[in-house]
Amino acid sequence: MDKLNKTFYIETYGCQMNTVDSEIVTSILISAGFKLVDDIKEANILLLNTCAIREKAVERVINKMRQHKGFLKSGKLEIAGILGCIPEHTGDELKAKLDFIKLQVGPDKYRTLPQLIKNIYKDRKYHEELDFDIEENYEDVTPYRSEHTNAFISVMRGCNNFCTYCVVPYVRGREKSRTVDSILDEVKNTIAQGITEITLLGQNVNSYNFEGIRFPELLQKVAEIKGMERLKFATSHPKDLTEELIDVIVKNPNISNSFHLPFQAGSNSVLKRMNRGYTIEKYLAKIKMIREKIPNIAITTDIIVGFPGETEDDFQQTVKVLKDTKFDNAFMFIYSERKNTASAKNFKDDVSKEEKSRRQQFISKLQKKIGLVELKKDVGKITEVLIESISKKRDYQYKGRTEQNRIVVFDKIEGYNIGDYAKVKIKKAEGVTLFGEIVE
Ligand code: 5AD
Ligand code: SF4
Repeated sequence: MDKLNKTFYIETYGCQMNTVDSEIVTSILISAGFKLVDDIKEANILLLNTCAIREKAVERVINKMRQHKGFLKSGKLEIAGILGCIPEHTGDELKAKLDFIKLQVGPDKYRTLPQLIKNIYKDRKYHEELDFDIEENYEDVTPYRSEHTNAFISVMRGCNNFCTYCVVPYVRGREKSRTVDSILDEVKNTIAQGITEITLLGQNVNSYNFEGIRFPELLQKVAEIKGMERLKFATSHPKDLTEELIDVIVKNPNISNSFHLPFQAGSNSVLKRMNRGYTIEKYLAKIKMIREKIPNIAITTDIIVGFPGETEDDFQQTVKVLKDTKFDNAFMFIYSERKNTASAKNFKDDVSKEEKSRRQQFISKLQKKIGLVELKKDVGKITEVLIESISKKRDYQYKGRTEQNRIVVFDKIEGYNIGDYAKVKIKKAEGVTLFGEIVE
């Protein structure tokens, strides 16, 4: 294909899977001769890689695109396009609202982007590619990474679980696992570039299954790669969480002692209507097993409040789980009805907006207190920190992460650079941040 000599700018919304997808898109476009720019004013092509998980995420993208519209008139911008999950979810509505966009492409069709863009330059018309492709894992595309200390590597795409609230199976298609070899190769190449922290990603990473090789086996193979200093993975589904997986973490000191395990709701009747595939007792038994095997593990979770039919009593059961389990951190969401999902079809979104907000605020406040108590337990300890960046607030300080994924801020000292590991003595904890100093 002839080169177009055009520049592009990409903004990413949503989860870590989208971060990787933007790196894949960037790689595909650069290989086709397009030039990446980090300032929208310099861009001929604008791409927003989007998330549809809650209505708020969709509204955010619409507002952002409207703000950017001006660049089509005053700047160098010629084409505005939308990628990712929204095109699959409500592409037609989006196009009606943003009539100036020229392009919508879903998560399995990024290879078509260079040709589509070329077509748009030719005919000035709108183009879209929204089909799913059960074969597409982008195994041969090396993601273009902007981060230099850590890399996300996607090992599986899509989802088969059909939690009744969730749009993912509809916007990213069915589960598909990458070949073991292509994952190991990507990890080795990434380490060869000097990146020592790697996160294996999947919508249900622990349901990875390539020709009978399951996630614990894959994780073990990745942990054994030379130069693999810190290995993480996300997101796990409680129903697929086995003791075997936890044993792999115990066995390999380079696997991070952090675990993200969404429980979503504390009430069994809500869990059942969510189609989560476990009871809260089973979930708590798994947490107990993890803590027994890995006493210093940091556990984080996701929660939805205001699911259809959630009563005050149901909500109090979520509160109880939070109080008893003492998560390091929790991401707490207000239920947002999604088109096509089973809960949208079968249940009435009957918890009022005010009540949903009240419940979310209540547990946010509670978790903030619990999280800080947990964080304070690190004060006085010496912990290994990977230096990730210069602190945004103070340029004489570094920001890094502990092995448990906790954020630490500390003064820079001679001889320590971004990408290095440092021993840091923790002096205090505030909010979700630890503060300390390097000990040599
Ligand atoms: N409404 C609110 N939160 C949702 N999540 C997924 N779907 C919805 C929805 N329809 C939350 C879940 C999931 C996290 C990524 O987003 O808690 O774990
Ligand atoms: Fe959002 Fe889900 Fe798409 Fe990730 S996969 S961007 S969370 S809708």
